[in-house]
Amino acid sequence: MNTQLIIGQVLRFTRDPFLGAPQEAAEITARGGVLIEDGRIAALGDGAALRAAHPDAEVFDEGDALISAGFVDAHAHYPQTAMIASWGKRLIDWLNTYTFPEEMRFEDRAYADEIAGRWLDLLIAHGTTSALSFCTVHAQSADALFAAAQSRGMRLAAGKTCMDRNAPDGLRDSPERAYDESRTLLQRWHGVDRLSYAITPRFSPTSTPEQLSALGALWAEHPDCLMQTHLSEQIDEIAWVRDLYPDARDYLDTYEAHGLLGDRALFGHAIHLEPREMDRLRETGAALVHCPTSNTFIGSGLFDTGAMKSAGLRVGLATDTGGGSSFSMLRTMAAAYEIGQLRGRALHPTELWWLATAGSAEAMHMGDRIGNLAVGMEADIVAIDLASTPAIAQRTTRAEDAWSAIFPTIMMGDDRAIRKVWIAGTTPGAQLSTRTGK
Ligand code: GUN
Ligand code: ZN
Repeated sequence: MNTQLIIGQVLRFTRDPFLGAPQEAAEITARGGVLIEDGRIAALGDGAALRAAHPDAEVFDEGDALISAGFVDAHAHYPQTAMIASWGKRLIDWLNTYTFPEEMRFEDRAYADEIAGRWLDLLIAHGTTSALSFCTVHAQSADALFAAAQSRGMRLAAGKTCMDRNAPDGLRDSPERAYDESRTLLQRWHGVDRLSYAITPRFSPTSTPEQLSALGALWAEHPDCLMQTHLSEQIDEIAWVRDLYPDARDYLDTYEAHGLLGDRALFGHAIHLEPREMDRLRETGAALVHCPTSNTFIGSGLFDTGAMKSAGLRVGLATDTGGGSSFSMLRTMAAAYEIGQLRGRALHPTELWWLATAGSAEAMHMGDRIGNLAVGMEADIVAIDLASTPAIAQRTTRAEDAWSAIFPTIMMGDDRAIRKVWIAGTTPGAQLSTRTGK
């Protein structure tokens, strides 16, 4: 048996912190231990006691570093890695000016392989061990990402992005091609190792009703797949959807009318929702994905996490690379906090950390395997240095309790805070290899 023991300040959630007093939803054990056997968590408890009971385990003593489940990024576009931080545009112009030309390059499988590897190594360097990503319209862009995640042993979901209108030549498929290629890819990758397929219409403006129907039919045939898309991100976009779908009651209805609403659906952004849309999202159990750095970077608006959670909606957290401006879920938590402040609700550090781990995992229906530390779960784990820079360290020395020692890293931390990463119990050699790109 392959056994490891990680010792440090172990953080685990006992429930969703939005459902009661947030500080009581997490347990932090100083000098706690996480015992890993064959890639899964076999025991949690006192570090010294676990060490005595398992003398043959390979020990990682991380001192007073925080030991947490790895971060889970529930909405990203890996093909936008190399054009993150592109200046000066809002959603539709940003897509046309920066995104679509970059996505064209993924016709070249070698380029897709290069960026897929680069993106996953950046994620790991930032402490993110699982993600749900869009690919491009090219089927091989999905093959590239799945192969790269498979070689790193990661739990990852993704899908070929389907678009059959309002996109340039070379980035459009058709209803038939979207159905056929998505089906071929899901048959090839769904359930293989730690990979799963997400049926992926980009958003209603770039699909005809016929394409949405074809993908709705595919989802009905494979209901255990996820379905990911975008919803109500910018006001201009919502007006465009109204013009394109005059019979729809609202934006969400453009998906529901074509079989694309259900509990395995994840809707990115969902900032400007109507009451009816919120009701239907709650009734169907679909998840919303908050992308806070993107809310501000491309000027979309401010997602109201507190209101959505109070309304009983499921919410995950994500970078939205490259509409979002960071690969870091720490930076993403900071942005969620700042947007919460502007919405009149200071999110507690437990709530932020839960959104970045268990909340995203639950939104992806993977909360029984990743996103928390519990016996039987997969050992995707990060050790986080809570004094990773002088600015953070000088603040942390004043902390009165565990959460006030963690909050400065949430607000000011980045990849320098990520001390070590384990994916299914192993520390990936490639994790720090891709600090710069071409
Ligand atoms: N809406 C449709 N496509 C995209 C995309 O690539 N990024 C973001 N942020 N919003 C979108
Ligand atoms: Zn997106």
